[in-house]
Amino acid sequence: MKKIFVTKPSLPPKDQFYQLIDEIWESEYITNDGDFHKKLEKALSEYLEVDHISVFSNGTLALITALQALNIKGEVITTPYSFVATTNSLIWNGITPVFADIDEHSCNMSVDAVEKAITPQTTALMPVHVYGTPCDMEGMEALAKKHNLKIIYDAAHAFGVKYNGQSILNYGDLSILSFHATKVYNTIEGGAIISHSAEMKTKIDNLKNFGITDELTVVDSGINAKMNEVQAAYGLLNLKYIDENIRLRKEAHDYYASQLKDVPGLNLLDISSIENYNYGYFPVFVGENYPVNRDQLYDILMKAGIYSRRYFYPLISDFPIYASIPSANRSNLPHAVKLTESVLCLPLYAKLDRSTIDRIVDVVKNPEKR
Ligand SMILES: Cc1ncc(COP(=O)(O)O)c(C=O)c1O
Repeated sequence: MKKIFVTKPSLPPKDQFYQLIDEIWESEYITNDGDFHKKLEKALSEYLEVDHISVFSNGTLALITALQALNIKGEVITTPYSFVATTNSLIWNGITPVFADIDEHSCNMSVDAVEKAITPQTTALMPVHVYGTPCDMEGMEALAKKHNLKIIYDAAHAFGVKYNGQSILNYGDLSILSFHATKVYNTIEGGAIISHSAEMKTKIDNLKNFGITDELTVVDSGINAKMNEVQAAYGLLNLKYIDENIRLRKEAHDYYASQLKDVPGLNLLDISSIENYNYGYFPVFVGENYPVNRDQLYDILMKAGIYSRRYFYPLISDFPIYASIPSANRSNLPHAVKLTESVLCLPLYAKLDRSTIDRIVDVVKNPEKR
């Protein structure tokens, strides 16, 4: 039985990649703001329709650096329903995470819950556009203005997504992307910070290069988070195929949705109002009327050779390293608790064909027959 994994990376054609590798070898320049690095930043800023982008070796270092760039201290309000890197980046900056509950439908941090969590120590908000669905950005921004807070959006899942006719990345003070192999667009490992002024981009570019500005000058206690030339060349090539990859993902997504939309007890994410959705994930939410519970479905799929993932379970706030924070108490996070117990992400990637989806759908529609 052929195993079906939850995702497969979108790989560019190998022969074309080898040509770029030849160029890198000829140049003998393999990292430190090389030609491919420059070309990738330019190509990404055009594709994403953003003014300033700084590429990184991964998304986690982009998050850590974004907080550094804005000199965030004290408490930051964030969501427990995300990948653990979101909260870990706060700890790496000596910041106290404060967890706020999420909206039951969008899975994103709720503005009401954020408002209740604000204290005199709050300095910033770190919402996540989970599964690429936009946060209530107007609501977040109104709160931030009222309480003089910064906003750093973790947009790791939101490559290419738009809101009100423009890039989702143009909102907030800074946004970060992840270009990890599992993401819609990948540079093997990689990430980026999107900023809104040339000064801020320069500060971020310094921070990702140890804080060095020239041979004799260090202006910040920066880190090494640079993207190398091999990653950048691969990323430049992969960008040529992004539209086709998203189109294929959409096809797979829509076929799944047509097959699963009427399954009793199973709820799907409502993406109908999202502009330029990227079809990064296919989460289903297992309700009480479904014949088995979420973990049973996970096991049944696994026995059928289908590797689904419980994104995002456990909640970040349930990990022992965070569970003792007062806001991590489950009674503070009822919607997040409900969703983390019911969510299952089914396999979704550009090359997922209909017959493979049929195999998955057959199990999901008939879990008790297994
Ligand atoms: C929401 C979120 N934030 C941050 C990250 C970290 O990105 P990276 O893996 O590129 O370090 C990821 C995923 O990998 C993620 O899903």
